Amino acid sequence: MATVTAPTSQTAPASIPPSVCTLAHTAQLEALYTIIRDKQTSRGDFLFYSDRIIRLLVEEGLNHLPVVPKSVKTPTGATYDGVGFEGKICGVSILRAGEAMEAGLREVCRSVRIGKILIQRDEETALPKLFYSKLPPDIAKRYVLLLDPMLATGGSAIKAVEVLLENGVPEERIIFINLISAPEGLRNFCSKYPKTRVITGWIDQGLNEKAYIIPGLGDFGERRYCL
Ligand code: URA
Repeated sequence: MATVTAPTSQTAPASIPPSVCTLAHTAQLEALYTIIRDKQTSRGDFLFYSDRIIRLLVEEGLNHLPVVPKSVKTPTGATYDGVGFEGKICGVSILRAGEAMEAGLREVCRSVRIGKILIQRDEETALPKLFYSKLPPDIAKRYVLLLDPMLATGGSAIKAVEVLLENGVPEERIIFINLISAPEGLRNFCSKYPKTRVITGWIDQGLNEKAYIIPGLGDFGERRYCL
């Protein structure tokens, strides 16, 4: 049987903006996506396997943070010339689906601060509108991992980055992490914020007339939270 070993990430196809990075499409990853896309998958399995992908995404997001040289003494008395993390990070989840990614971030970054942003469609203007935000007070000094599992049109993510910029976070210090993206959403988002790195697990075909990602996995919030 063939074994697949691959790097942890790959650059996206040429038609996709250069700030976008996808997870390496190993057979293992494809199997995880096959499970969560399957409409027959139970809620328990959806939780378990989407959490596995989220963890991979968070680890990949952390790969894009800067490090500085750091030397340590090992128990053998020798010196190891390695690196250490530079700067502080925080997570910001776009409610409500983004909350599902918080646990994955906490597993990897102990006692990480996590803010929240609620964006909904304004019924009068049909545009994304900020309804609520709670962000760490020193967010302007941190790298921000922005969490939202599905990038469809890009409207909510664009609004969320606007909120972060208003709070003093430089665009290049934001890393937007999601499980599945539509090319339309990626292009919208990246043309507005070319300096923000996007880490996505999979880029799908596109959107249907109801702005669902195709093939996608349906409504992430419903799959995750509804019995
Ligand atoms: N949000 C979802 O949960 N699913 C989609 O397909 C698009 C947006």
